[in-house]
Amino acid sequence: MAIKITILVGTMTGTAQLCAQEMELALDDGETEVETLLMDKADAGVFERDGVFLVCTSTYGQGDVPDNARALYEELKTKRPSLARVRYGVFGLGDRTYAETFNFGGKKFDDILTELGAERIGDRHTHDASSGILPEETALEWCQEWLAKVRERLGQPA
Ligand SMILES: Cc1cc2nc3c(=O)[nH]c(=O)nc-3n(C[C@H](O)[C@H](O)[C@H](O)COP(=O)(O)O)c2cc1C
Repeated sequence: MAIKITILVGTMTGTAQLCAQEMELALDDGETEVETLLMDKADAGVFERDGVFLVCTSTYGQGDVPDNARALYEELKTKRPSLARVRYGVFGLGDRTYAETFNFGGKKFDDILTELGAERIGDRHTHDASSGILPEETALEWCQEWLAKVRERLGQPA
């Protein structure tokens, strides 16, 4: 059975969206069905969908989630739905120049999803813009490794 993946994108200037587009292209192969949603087009009910979730978000302000992710993040914090059925991964974008708040956007989603009972599959990725490595290139490799872990967790052969 095809694995359904919903990629939720938090972005200010489009880098996370570009990464999500690359990951959708790489992962959506018939065996895996991928839909990418900007977070401002989703509310907490999105987590009632079947399949697994990939949170792909940058960090802004002083370790804040991007503006387009704020409403979803706040809704999770205030309504606190049970997400016990949810499995997810996190591809975070940030910049180590912001040493105190490096990649806090992804971390904030990771923390609240775990608090609400969801299970993370794989490690949270923390891209560093100051490294000079293009996040959309890292994303391709990372998402294949993540999918392998998802398949393993769901008991599906590679
Ligand atoms: C005004 C501003 C504030 C930022 N604050 C942080 C921060 O607190 N922590 C961090 O890790 N990165 C921070 N960043 C870096 C961005 O998260 C990083 O450049 C990311 O790749 C941008 O992705 P986006 O285009 O999808 O929004 C900041 C960038 C800007 C321009």
